[in-house]
Amino acid sequence: MKFLDELDAIQLETTVGQIIVGFEEETEWIIRKLTSGPTVIDVISIVGMPGLGKTTLAYRVYNDKSIVDHFDVCTWCTVDQERNDKKLLQKVFNQVIGLKEKFNEDDIDDDVVDKLRKKLYGHRYLIVLDDMWDTATFDELTRPFPELRKGSRVILTSPKKEVALHGKCHSDPLYLRLLRSEESWELLEKRVFGEERCPNELKDVGEKIARKCDGLPLILDLIGGVISRKEKKEALWVEVLNNLSSFIFKDEEEVVKVIQLSYDHLSDHVKSCLVCLASYPKDENIWICELKDLWIGDGLVEQIEMKSAEELVDELILSSLVIKVLFSPQLKESTLNIKEYVEEMTGEDKLDIYFHGR
Ligand SMILES: Nc1ncnc2c1ncn2[C@@H]1O[C@H](COP(=O)(O)OP(=O)(O)OP(=O)(O)O)[C@@H](O)[C@H]1O
Ligand SMILES: [Mg+2]
Repeated sequence: MKFLDELDAIQLETTVGQIIVGFEEETEWIIRKLTSGPTVIDVISIVGMPGLGKTTLAYRVYNDKSIVDHFDVCTWCTVDQERNDKKLLQKVFNQVIGLKEKFNEDDIDDDVVDKLRKKLYGHRYLIVLDDMWDTATFDELTRPFPELRKGSRVILTSPKKEVALHGKCHSDPLYLRLLRSEESWELLEKRVFGEERCPNELKDVGEKIARKCDGLPLILDLIGGVISRKEKKEALWVEVLNNLSSFIFKDEEEVVKVIQLSYDHLSDHVKSCLVCLASYPKDENIWICELKDLWIGDGLVEQIEMKSAEELVDELILSSLVIKVLFSPQLKESTLNIKEYVEEMTGEDKLDIYFHGR
């Protein structure tokens, strides 16, 4: 019995198809913790600053065949800043019973806690609670999880050490490390050149750019997006390096600046499309075939006629600011989802400040 929500399953496929470097040992460590150890429930936490790759690592593990085969029930719950515990539990419950439709706040069942407990009872389940910010939410969400000796597991990701320590049962949290410099260069090179190698004349400046990203995958990914759309010329890469040199990635503000940098390098049409996407609710995937109508509705039509919708979508995906969720190889049957951190930084009110009000 497998209860993988269709959309989540597809999102996992996308992540798997994506370039992932490093963290092999960490992946194996988590898989071991999930498939062996105590028969009572255990919580495996992944802790680290935003953009370090916690969700990516959790996705990778969650999608591993040995994990899918090991558990009766697998569900994924993105917690983020959502305060409505019942809504999150309803989301988990709907996945467990295989319900795919979106629901609104009115559909939340008062008895969802009991119903979820009954559904999970007797099964070996894996529940991922991604991006948990506070201990009270952790307590509320895990309250319905039955504690039978079935080897059930929870994967928790959090930017906060105290949340991980609060949730700890047997295993110590995994404090995710930064990428090593050779891994950083590998990520950037693959992001820009795919399977091909970087030409010698760009290698030196490329490695300097990679080092400047301080081992933070999010920054490497975004900067990779910026340089992959530029001509492969040393002078242009040096410009990016100089731009980067003023950043120290120790707080969110610096990350916002890099998102801003990625945004600045988009063409004007694509900027408008991204702003339009950012105004949609966070967990909503938008069908690419419907995007054109959306853009027309937002008065972007004249600009769009200069480029095909597909070209605009391609440019958005290349920027790393949005992800494509694949339903089929045909682009029109895919959906776009704005990346979480872009959403956070661009949330409706802030959008103007970061993207328009400069
Ligand atoms: N090992 C990796 N290899 C390649 N790219 C990665 C890797 N880890 C993360 N990334 C990329 O870095 C970006 C940030 O990763 P992710 O969303 O997993 O970070 P996070 O730690 O969950 O951040 P947050 O705390 O904001 O949720 C994503 O674009 C992801 O594709
Ligand atoms: Mg995350």
